[in-house]
Amino acid sequence: MKRYKIGIIGTGMRTMFLVNEILKKNEFEIVALSDVSNKNMELLCSRYNLKLDKYTDYKELLSRKDIDAVIICSPDYYHEEQAIAALSLGKHVFLEKPIAITKEGALRVLKKRDESNKILIVGFVLRYNKLYKKMKELIQNGIIGELKTGWVLHSVGAASDWYFHDWHGTMKNTNGLLLQKGSHDFDIINWVVNSKLKKIVAFGSRDFFGGNKPDNLICEECKEKTICTEAIKPRYITWEKANGEKTNVHYNVWRNQCAFRNEIDVFDNHQVLLEYNNGVKVSYMECHYTPDDNREYIFIGTKGKLKLDDANNTITVQIRNNMYDRNENIVYKNLQENDGHGGGDEHILDAFIEAMNTGIQPEAGGEAGLKAMQAGILAYESIKKLKIINL
Ligand SMILES: NC(=O)c1ccc[n+]([C@@H]2O[C@H](COP(=O)([O-])OP(=O)(O)OC[C@H]3O[C@@H](n4cnc5c(N)ncnc54)[C@H](O)[C@@H]3O)[C@@H](O)[C@H]2O)c1
Repeated sequence: MKRYKIGIIGTGMRTMFLVNEILKKNEFEIVALSDVSNKNMELLCSRYNLKLDKYTDYKELLSRKDIDAVIICSPDYYHEEQAIAALSLGKHVFLEKPIAITKEGALRVLKKRDESNKILIVGFVLRYNKLYKKMKELIQNGIIGELKTGWVLHSVGAASDWYFHDWHGTMKNTNGLLLQKGSHDFDIINWVVNSKLKKIVAFGSRDFFGGNKPDNLICEECKEKTICTEAIKPRYITWEKANGEKTNVHYNVWRNQCAFRNEIDVFDNHQVLLEYNNGVKVSYMECHYTPDDNREYIFIGTKGKLKLDDANNTITVQIRNNMYDRNENIVYKNLQENDGHGGGDEHILDAFIEAMNTGIQPEAGGEAGLKAMQAGILAYESIKKLKIINL
């Protein structure tokens, strides 16, 4: 068994979750961290009892010849620069989504991947979650006949916590939440539909977050912190560590800026229509101020309808026997696992290991990352220009 020496760039919230899974894999040995914040690196090390080399400049980490692969979990606007630097120095790369915040940036990353001959995997964990894999398999095997249409709803109830209290809230940092959050869903839609995008049209707006509060206001210092529905409050998540111990992680320690501050300019409500070359049409709705947190994927084919309900961990299939008979319901339950992203974190790491072992680029590789970004970028273009974008 080959053991890969790993360096991690960016040690915020994402890394806190992912490291739990990395530590369970014998194929990985984390040797170094890099973050501009010493505090964040210390927090990660203390949480998992790790003694690792730490660098505030990621280039110093990359200059280490003993490191085989890097995991990049920095903010989106650093992905392109850091991935290109890592590939240039001969490291395999696990890059969090999106690949970059512009299409040109993503193409530059792919070019460097090809020149370097190294593996690039993009953090599309849902592809490796067994519930989503089952959905893809059922549709591919024709359970609902020929796929014709899809309705995808993404209710991002905890969006304030994740996206509006820090760097995620501005276009300059993310190029919009359809790249940041929506790229997971565009990737799943592209994967299931299995065709090239032909047309896209979208509407979007910022209805709830942002406002006229000062950009430097933080929740702890705000006069309204006791009445504000969006004020950051300590939140804990319990999970099992590699040694079987249960741990209680303070999970939103990294962010505290006001969710109604002036600089916020990303949309919090999106409606996107996509048409593919094979004729399949899909609508995608992403709203960041709903009370619930869920992804619902509905696909309809010539024989029936499939519904994946993420929060309830189920897939239901209804077959259209005739226009009145709708009783046949096939239910798949509890396919998601308990760990990060319903098992997606664990299995995407397996895919990364396999790709490095075989030298074959993974399914969730650069091309998938580029296509998912493209949908998000073109949706914004459609919103701005008020027109249908034909590819
Ligand atoms: N695949 C998934 O499901 C998933 C889930 C969450 C986040 N993410 C991705 O992970 C990335 C990080 O998100 P997060 O929520 O952890 O953000 P975060 O702000 O909590 O963490 C980012 C970390 O990067 C550090 N950083 C900033 N500039 C840096 C630099 N130049 N070099 C090294 N480190 C730097 C910050 O100090 C911080 O510790 C994002 O790109 C996000 O899209 C993916």
